[in-house]
Amino acid sequence: MPDAALPVPTISAIDGAVHSPRPHESAHKHVSGEAVYIDDIAEPAGLLHVALGLSAKAHARVTALDLSRVRAAPGVAVVVTAADVPGVNDIGYMGKGDEPLFASDLVQHVGQPLFAVAAHTRDQARRAAALADVTYEDLPAILTIAAARDGERTLVTAPMTLTVGDSAAALAEAPRRLDGRLAVGGQEHFYLESQIALAIPGEDEEVLVHVSTQHPTEVQHIVAHILHVPNGAVTVEVRRMGGGFGGKETQANLFAACAALIAKKTGRAAKLRPDRDDDFQITGKRHDFEIDYAVGFTDEGLVTGVEMLFAARAGYAADLSGPVTDRALFHADNCYHYPAARLESLPLKTNTVSNTAFRGFGGPQGMVAAERVIDEIAFALGADPLTIRKRNFYGVEDRNLTPYHQIVADNIIPELVAELEADCGYWERRAAIRAHNARSRILKKGLALTPVKFGISFTATHYNQAGALVHVYTDGSVQVNHGGTEMGQGLHTKVAQIVAEEFQIDIAQVRPTATTTGKVPNTSATAASSGTDLNGKAAQNAARAIKERLAAFAAERWGVAADAVVFAPGRIQAGDQSMSFPELVRAAYMARVQLSATGFYKTPKIHWDRAAGRGTPFFYYAYGAACSEVTVDTLTGEYVVDRVDILHDCGRSLNPAIDKGQIEGGFVQGMGWLTMEELWWDGQGRLRTHAPSTYKIPACGDRPRVFNVRLLDNAPNREDSVFRSKAVGEPPFMLGMSVLHALSDAVASVADHRFCPQLDAPATPERVLATIGRLRARAAGV
Ligand code: MTE
Ligand code: MOS
Repeated sequence: MPDAALPVPTISAIDGAVHSPRPHESAHKHVSGEAVYIDDIAEPAGLLHVALGLSAKAHARVTALDLSRVRAAPGVAVVVTAADVPGVNDIGYMGKGDEPLFASDLVQHVGQPLFAVAAHTRDQARRAAALADVTYEDLPAILTIAAARDGERTLVTAPMTLTVGDSAAALAEAPRRLDGRLAVGGQEHFYLESQIALAIPGEDEEVLVHVSTQHPTEVQHIVAHILHVPNGAVTVEVRRMGGGFGGKETQANLFAACAALIAKKTGRAAKLRPDRDDDFQITGKRHDFEIDYAVGFTDEGLVTGVEMLFAARAGYAADLSGPVTDRALFHADNCYHYPAARLESLPLKTNTVSNTAFRGFGGPQGMVAAERVIDEIAFALGADPLTIRKRNFYGVEDRNLTPYHQIVADNIIPELVAELEADCGYWERRAAIRAHNARSRILKKGLALTPVKFGISFTATHYNQAGALVHVYTDGSVQVNHGGTEMGQGLHTKVAQIVAEEFQIDIAQVRPTATTTGKVPNTSATAASSGTDLNGKAAQNAARAIKERLAAFAAERWGVAADAVVFAPGRIQAGDQSMSFPELVRAAYMARVQLSATGFYKTPKIHWDRAAGRGTPFFYYAYGAACSEVTVDTLTGEYVVDRVDILHDCGRSLNPAIDKGQIEGGFVQGMGWLTMEELWWDGQGRLRTHAPSTYKIPACGDRPRVFNVRLLDNAPNREDSVFRSKAVGEPPFMLGMSVLHALSDAVASVADHRFCPQLDAPATPERVLATIGRLRARAAGV
């Protein structure tokens, strides 16, 4: 228990519930250990623990699956395979039918589940799962992007092409042209709480599933399909996740479906929590890409035409590879105007785990390509990359058409970058770094300032809807429930702030409750950074419905016009009557006024025609920029991030404290992706970096030594978003690109900035060292 003397900080409603730096509603419970995650829920009597039996082969026929030793193992209650699935053996996104819960005669990646075993203890289940006798007949395995792209090019889903202008003509006529290829690695989500599901069987067809998912409604549908029961028989509940980062948008389906199947088969509760090593091998990751680019430009460095081919390792099934590779194209312009462009995606099928959503959802990979192209131009012209960046920014009145034919109507990147450039002393530090590098033989410094423009909305238009349910109780306390899920990002805090603001009550009176398909149905994934935009508006609409009823009641009771009833901080004013919120609520209840309401919201203005490659897929854009300075040890390739300055656009921030946390966390995660996190598969398709011992995410010691983060002032969203705020969950991730480019700058100094280092990601010390060697050899004419 926490020290009783430590007060939980709350700020009075008098300061305004929104636009104030309130603590996360669960922060004190996160740090004290009182926050209940699924593995903390008191275990029901007779609970069975489940373990999965996994494929050892990347691509093979299963000629025999002998589970007799598994069944006979101590403590085992039941073993299930594909044959035990009463409904459809598929857990794929939107029922594509290419992702079986259990593989039967064909396995398509190492780590694909073949069966599940339930036992009295977790240890018994795991030991039993290892006893399967599987006979395989090997098939040729396609493991890498190169093998898939240069071979038969099997795709997991339809590719997309975006075109604007005539890129072929633009390239042919351009005064200068460059071609290249860039490789950018994948990323493991490394949520602190691994995947987990706890299924509790109910009467008849019913089942309740507690699962760590960003998408309760999809889990509900998948469980219903697997069990062959109506959606209405399945309830999915999520109080919180210990991180999701996109890795629980579809990847929780498997665990929930498996636990539910065993629960309904045995009539006992069933829990499935994979070991971290298994989680790494079973679940999809960020897509790695190889991007071919050609750019035409003028002697001043102005882009005239671009062509890019985005080849992605999708893994064995479609999952979200379609929308992820689409989003790579949507962000292949980043902040830059391409008068002519042709952008194509290639979601390649490989015999590896099926890759999935990860913060930015393909957008980061698209932007990395845009920034490489800028770097190439800068080196070709001997110009500072920042100069070339600024020269190519979208215009405000003109030069504002994207490759998907949306006009960038809210462009603030030129001013935002100018402000950061001045604030962080870019040019003075540029000169100082040049002087340092001239003096320092071994330690070389690098500096880069990179911008971000990120489109907000799901590109699948129908996802841009949300529902909420608000209850006001007779003591004036409030519960709010909505379709979004809490994964640490502070969604529940922001929604509670919005409801408190509407009623003008203290946020301590507003309790966000666990997300459940039983309260708010037919929800979208909490993803695309739009959790607060969508659910905050829905909750606001629900609160307003109740407020209108209260105002109408007060107007009638005290004989004033309804618009003369004023909800002031902590008090309601109706003519000369003044009362507290609980007093008004109590009087309304006695007069039989309904104190509960649902709310709904759908994003206006957006539409998207994928076949035509035209539309307005995004409601608005969020902007940001970061400047990073690094020092590289040119003998070892090791480096430190000395200083980072960030200026980020949250519109009129709902909660500057939480937004700052999202910016810091997103930046560090993005930096980790582009520098130290490396996924490594061997020639047999086995992931050899499957635990913290071999897969390195940023730790305290890797954080920037100086880290200045500021929100852009006086920047209300021009669109009618909730209290004019902007989404913040994903955009700051891409600020991490500044570290990759600062490393590139430091590396380039070894050859006097004559050659573009073409530093691929992740820029591990090993790759940095190799690139230094390559540049030195080139400079020496070897
Ligand atoms: N922040 C924390 N602490 N944990 C997370 O898992 N996920 C990110 C981002 N920030 C995540 C996070 C991702 S991928 C998205 S899409 C958004 O949060 C989702 O939440 P939001 O829409 O409410 O911002
Ligand atoms: Mo975030 S990748 O949209 O869950």
